[in-house]
Amino acid sequence: MTDLHTSIDKFQFNNVFMNASGVRCYTKDELDELAQSDAGTLVTKSATQTKRLGNPSPRYAPLELGSINSMGLPNEGLEYYLDYALDFQKAHPEKPIFLSVAGLSMEENLAMAHTIENSDFNGLVEFNLSCPNVPGKPQTGYDFDRTQEVLTNLFDFFTKPAGVKLPPYFDLAQFDQMATILNQFPLKFVNSINSLGNGLMIDPETDTALIKPKGGFGGIGGAYAKPIALANVRAFAQRLDPKIQLIGTGGVTNGRDAYDLILAGASLVQVGTLLQEEGTVAFTRLTRELRAVMQTKGYNAISDFRGQLKVLS
Ligand code: DOR
Repeated sequence: MTDLHTSIDKFQFNNVFMNASGVRCYTKDELDELAQSDAGTLVTKSATQTKRLGNPSPRYAPLELGSINSMGLPNEGLEYYLDYALDFQKAHPEKPIFLSVAGLSMEENLAMAHTIENSDFNGLVEFNLSCPNVPGKPQTGYDFDRTQEVLTNLFDFFTKPAGVKLPPYFDLAQFDQMATILNQFPLKFVNSINSLGNGLMIDPETDTALIKPKGGFGGIGGAYAKPIALANVRAFAQRLDPKIQLIGTGGVTNGRDAYDLILAGASLVQVGTLLQEEGTVAFTRLTRELRAVMQTKGYNAISDFRGQLKVLS
């Protein structure tokens, strides 16, 4: 039987698939459902320090090849997700989970990091530097100096295993610059990519933007994102210190998409739009399909082909 076991740092997972933060991970019931699914682990909705209602609805729409969203970080607040994670790790010591954090300012990020640092949380923390949907708050990951500053201040005191969720980059100079910054810090992982920020889709019947916030602008996910996600994972795999592992997110609709992200260098694969649309049964199908691709290729384990992308010479 093919084995989908994978690891990040000292953390072991029995399956490479997990949810992308934001999708079906808002409430404890949703998190429990993810935990009971075939996913290897789960991540909580990106938390701010206190509960947020997010942007006005409609703020999500499925599209022909994916989705558009401008949720605006609705969430129950850090304490809610930290409580969940602390209970979860007691009940499931064999299943490490991810806590996602998205402060609206550096101060808020640092304050939340202090709370986590001083807690008994023993999983991984994902610092989301790439939410495209909060009006007036540019994505930290597109401001290189700011990213350097945030990480410098964070790792001044933060000692728990952590990584960052990044926006998509489109120029090789950006990969070079960002990798140079990230390599200075004791990150365990980099997660590429968040949604393609500030896309626009129009309802042809009414000539109206599909979603309400920000005049219709929102993050694009799903199949539209696949080539960008692949390139971002690949580009960082080539530039990051090998101690920093990759999580691949973007455009997974079948097992082959996941296989491709792993070929590009991903150690875990996150699923967003597909999970939103199909529910947690998506993990069962993806698992079956990824196993089938691996069998066809003669691979028994993820490590047999991770990062083994071939290029034309
Ligand atoms: O596409 C996204 N939507 N990415 C995020 O990081 C946050 C989320 C939201 O809440 O708007």
